[in-house]
Amino acid sequence: MSSAHNPIVFPLDVASIDDAREWVRRLSDEVGVFKVGLELFCAAGPEAVRAIADAGAAGVFLDAKLHDIPATVEGAAREACSAGVRMITAHCQGGVEMLRAAVRGAGDDVCVLGVTRLTSLPASQDEVTQAALQALEAGCGGIVCSPREAAAVREAVGPKLQIVCPGVRPAGSDAGDQVRVMTPGDAIRAGADWLVIGRPIRNAADPLAAVRAIREEIASARGTQ
Ligand code: C5P
Repeated sequence: MSSAHNPIVFPLDVASIDDAREWVRRLSDEVGVFKVGLELFCAAGPEAVRAIADAGAAGVFLDAKLHDIPATVEGAAREACSAGVRMITAHCQGGVEMLRAAVRGAGDDVCVLGVTRLTSLPASQDEVTQAALQALEAGCGGIVCSPREAAAVREAVGPKLQIVCPGVRPAGSDAGDQVRVMTPGDAIRAGADWLVIGRPIRNAADPLAAVRAIREEIASARGTQ
């Protein structure tokens, strides 16, 4: 991953295309990728993905969290990605064959990310590492894990997989319902390639200033890697 890349993933955790578009307009110069989650995708479907790309998003990450039999997942990945998606998630708990089906359906231009374990569930480092190894075996391009797990996952999977971490909080910001958090700088030092950061930006008095401060913290962490 080049050090020039902007690793910030901003989740569009809103229920309408208009609200999503507005956030893209405000933040597109400072955010690497915009994430469409289940709330927006259930409300507006592939149309939301197209609208966000049209509003100036450099890349769209569809957090679809696919989990079903392989044939269904392959079809769902194909349909979901046809709207112009750069990254899509599938649950590692669906197994290697299901992850392979997601990779086939998504096609060569889309990075399939295996969700190792939901951070709302208890999981040991070993379970997370095993799930990441399954994603590697299935041909996924990356995985999603807590930043606390990132260093051990990187050690196990090597440089091939992109590591995406939610649960990132700048020092002094409210953790909200995230329990196991890390600062952006520490998450980058732990080996994360992408940081999903929502509420610390969305709820800030000045979201643009908040995201710029995070970018500065990331730049200085890279300088000390
Ligand atoms: O607002 P906050 O920074 O906590 O947002 C984190 C985003 O990452 C949300 O969209 C949430 O759904 C997502 N996410 C997460 N934990 C996971 C997977 C996804 O927080 N394990």
